[in-house]
Amino acid sequence: LRLVVLVSGSGTNLQALLDACASPEYGAEVVAVGADRDGIQGLTRATDAGIPTFVHRVKDFGSREEWDAALAESVAAYEPDLVVSAGFMKLVGAAFLDRFGGKTLNTHPALLPSFPGMHGARDALDYGVKVTGATLFIVDAGVDTGMIMAQVTVPVEDDDTEETLHERIKVVERSMLVETVGRIAREGYTVEDRRVRFGSA
Ligand code: GRF
Repeated sequence: LRLVVLVSGSGTNLQALLDACASPEYGAEVVAVGADRDGIQGLTRATDAGIPTFVHRVKDFGSREEWDAALAESVAAYEPDLVVSAGFMKLVGAAFLDRFGGKTLNTHPALLPSFPGMHGARDALDYGVKVTGATLFIVDAGVDTGMIMAQVTVPVEDDDTEETLHERIKVVERSMLVETVGRIAREGYTVEDRRVRFGSA
């Protein structure tokens, strides 16, 4: 299974995938890493692993649509079976989804459909929920509205801050991502009536 991973930050989810892909039996390989900004640890992790990278910054394009088309073009060049948005802090647009809709996954640090958006951990903490978690879903045109592929729960502790909670979420988020991508590599998945099932049709 050929993976292109998109990152905007520290890239710990990317690293978890890279570590898993080091075992041939995992059945997947990261063929390229893309980013929307320079100077991030996610890109360093890719380079250290000998994986090609590309960067497209929105501000270097005349419009958001042109940026989106360039991103889609660069991803397409690596012919991925699956695209993983792993802490990629941009919404992809129509050009990208035309090509990779249905096979782009995103991780989110909350139990969707609760607390979508940029601050899933903080918003859950502020709301006062006792259980939150992480969600892996298939990216669609909405904000964190795609079909859910996997979820894991994390209890909220009384003394949690946004940082402590998000760090605990990220631990389970990484294993959820690694397990699910491995399962996709072995079994594939199908979608029917918003339900994602593993195994081929
Ligand atoms: C993850 O919690 C992701 O869900 C969120 O940002 C974090 C990215 O972490 N949107 P990393 O860059 O993979 O370390």
